[in-house]
Amino acid sequence: MIAIGCDHGGYKLKEEILAYLKRENIPYKDFGVYDETSVNYPDKAFEVCEEVAKGNFEKGILICGTGIGISIAANKVKGIRAALCSDCFSAKYTRLHNDANILCMGGRTLGPGLSEMITDIFLHTEFEGGRHKTRIDLISAYEEAHIK
Ligand code: RB5
Repeated sequence: MIAIGCDHGGYKLKEEILAYLKRENIPYKDFGVYDETSVNYPDKAFEVCEEVAKGNFEKGILICGTGIGISIAANKVKGIRAALCSDCFSAKYTRLHNDANILCMGGRTLGPGLSEMITDIFLHTEFEGGRHKTRIDLISAYEEAHIK
């Protein structure tokens, strides 16, 4: 199950991604927002990321205007590895190598075609493990030791 959320800058692109998820029969929960009224992107990032970090959702998708603010906020949540992707190669390798659990995109930087392809790759690529697991474990160990 996928958790998806956005701010006002990501609202239109979220609607495109929802259409893709529906078409592909990928189960999701839409955490909003539901229109283009101005909101604060950290609130949505924390709401969605807390759910993913708790294990209530397998992965999350977050969209703001650039994808930058919402990814910065998302990566403050313990256990979250959020990747801002604007190309297919990054989407593939952030799953293969980083086991990213949140995909961030920019509603004002990406069109529907590319963002759909990025989402498809992100959701269907498995983590490679091995030496990459060692690196993920270093991030988790740092979080455990330094972030309460
Ligand atoms: C909102 O205007 C905009 O700042 C936000 O969507 C995002 O781009 C922040 O990084």
